[in-house]
Amino acid sequence: MRSSNAKATSERRVADMLKREFQGIGLYLFGISGIINILALTGAFYMLQIYDRALASGSIPTLVALSVLAIGLYLFQGLFDVVRSQVLVRVGARLDRKFAPIAHKVAIDMPRFGFSTAESLERGRDVDTVRSFLGSQGPMAIFDLPWVPVYLLFVYLLHPALGALTLGGAVVLTLLTVLNELMSRRLAGATQQAAIARNAVADSNTRNADILKAMGFAGRAVARYDVANREHLNLQTQTTDISGTLGAFSRVLRMLLQSAVLGLGAYLTIMGQLSPGAIIAASVAATRALAPIDLAIGNWKNVISARNSMRRLRDTLVAMGDGQPPMPLPAPSSRLTVDRITVAAPASGRVLLSEVAFELRGGQALGIIGPSAGGKTTLVKALTGIWEPIRGSVRLDGAELAQWSPDELGDHIGYLPQDVGLLDATIWENISRLAPQRDSAKVVAAAKAAGVHDMIVQFEDGYDTQVGPQGSALSAGQRQRIGLARALYGNPFLVIMDEPNSNLDADGETALTRAINDIRARDGIAIIVAHRPSALVAVDQVAVIQNGRMTSFGPKDEVLAATRGGLRPVRVATETQELSA
Ligand SMILES: Nc1ncnc2c1ncn2[C@@H]1O[C@H](COP(=O)(O)OP(=O)(O)OP(=O)(O)O)[C@@H](O)[C@H]1O
Ligand SMILES: [Mg+2]
Repeated sequence: MRSSNAKATSERRVADMLKREFQGIGLYLFGISGIINILALTGAFYMLQIYDRALASGSIPTLVALSVLAIGLYLFQGLFDVVRSQVLVRVGARLDRKFAPIAHKVAIDMPRFGFSTAESLERGRDVDTVRSFLGSQGPMAIFDLPWVPVYLLFVYLLHPALGALTLGGAVVLTLLTVLNELMSRRLAGATQQAAIARNAVADSNTRNADILKAMGFAGRAVARYDVANREHLNLQTQTTDISGTLGAFSRVLRMLLQSAVLGLGAYLTIMGQLSPGAIIAASVAATRALAPIDLAIGNWKNVISARNSMRRLRDTLVAMGDGQPPMPLPAPSSRLTVDRITVAAPASGRVLLSEVAFELRGGQALGIIGPSAGGKTTLVKALTGIWEPIRGSVRLDGAELAQWSPDELGDHIGYLPQDVGLLDATIWENISRLAPQRDSAKVVAAAKAAGVHDMIVQFEDGYDTQVGPQGSALSAGQRQRIGLARALYGNPFLVIMDEPNSNLDADGETALTRAINDIRARDGIAIIVAHRPSALVAVDQVAVIQNGRMTSFGPKDEVLAATRGGLRPVRVATETQELSA
């Protein structure tokens, strides 16, 4: 648990980092936008000069000179516009390069904390949202907004009444933007939740393609998706309705204002207070003054989603902590200490395992037995650091797991989960845990230790065989043995296997027993969760986990003798208390 103080520090650090990274470019873009907006006054000035100078004097050379000047200025404006949009796209790309890996790291961490896959992937998409927003019209509006007063001033200088009218229009349009914001804020969050819910249904449907086909309920699965999709569509329609309606309203208002400026200008001209050129110039400048506000309203939906994404991205960066890796520790070599741990489910906080304590030394192997749903996998998750205990600690050679940097700790741990879970890559990449360089000696050693080498070389592509999504190109037993090789890769000190023999044949079980003996022989620690006693041949210690408690722990023969003829929770529990007393 990090203190709120540490969180505040981390927040400040992230804010500083973002500021350092993007403040300079922000000022630069602001400057370019200023030049563009001043050059955009060209049209208005041109009208003014044509009417009041060229037409009044009837001079062709004046007309030509004015036109050439105007063309030149327009070209410059275009040039700066191109530069600005190119810079924005590059800012987006830079942000993407910097943050996408961080966001993905958080995304792959989130399921451990009880978030759905769909929800986790949404984190990764935040970067996409911000990047594509930066490449769109939205940020132009934001950078143009501060220059609206320049146009208002221009119109005001032509005639104060016209300036007041335009200002009035700007205020009304701004109020529309605020209204848009207030009305769509609530919807934006709900829409995103609906999208996550829809993607979660889609995700679970595609993952279960086989059972949907075999038992013919694909239709009902699609219907379930349809419901989620409609919900999302509904909310999205509402959001789009709001911005669409207000957008149309603001466009009409803008046209109305343009005509109103012309009308008022004509009245002022008739009253002799304004030149005819000024009417047109005022109309053009008034339109231009309101354009960024109009653009902002039209893009408000994107502005909101980009802002939400940016906010979540900042939370993501804050959640990653200060990025300072802990000091490297020597490889563990002597003991695993479980110090009265209590483990809770991350999402619900329900306690699944309480007050488990034991110690193992290098060279020992522990078998964990007990009824289904007793908490064996939960214990394994705490031992591997997947779930942090809410009380107590897990230590290797005395140092708590949190004292290691996760990658370094991973080198000392081998883990074969109950659902093997291979990555969509080659066999050697899976065994070597995606090692950047192929160390064939290490890969083969692990495969041999798991007794899977001979099977692998029989594949046409050998170690380069692609295992497919979730390892679907392999049989369940093959997956389990490759999973075992991955757990043994690099001879980690602590190897934890959750039901490693559930899909193994006799050969596989022999290989497993040999692997456990090998680990013990090199003074490592092996922990095996098992239902079938055949997996316990090579262990010397046994623990019984049931109802979220460790009811027994000790030398294999004693514990098995005590539990023979079925597990007797009460009796065994007393025994444990005696043991720990
Ligand atoms: N992610 C989770 N969130 C909430 N509860 C969970 C979670 N994972 C497991 N549980 C609950 O914790 C209890 C223990 O589950 P666990 O997976 O540890 O059992 P197990 O002993 O490994 O069983 P099995 O032999 O069937 O694998 C169960 O009641 C289960 O419903
Ligand atoms: Mg289990």
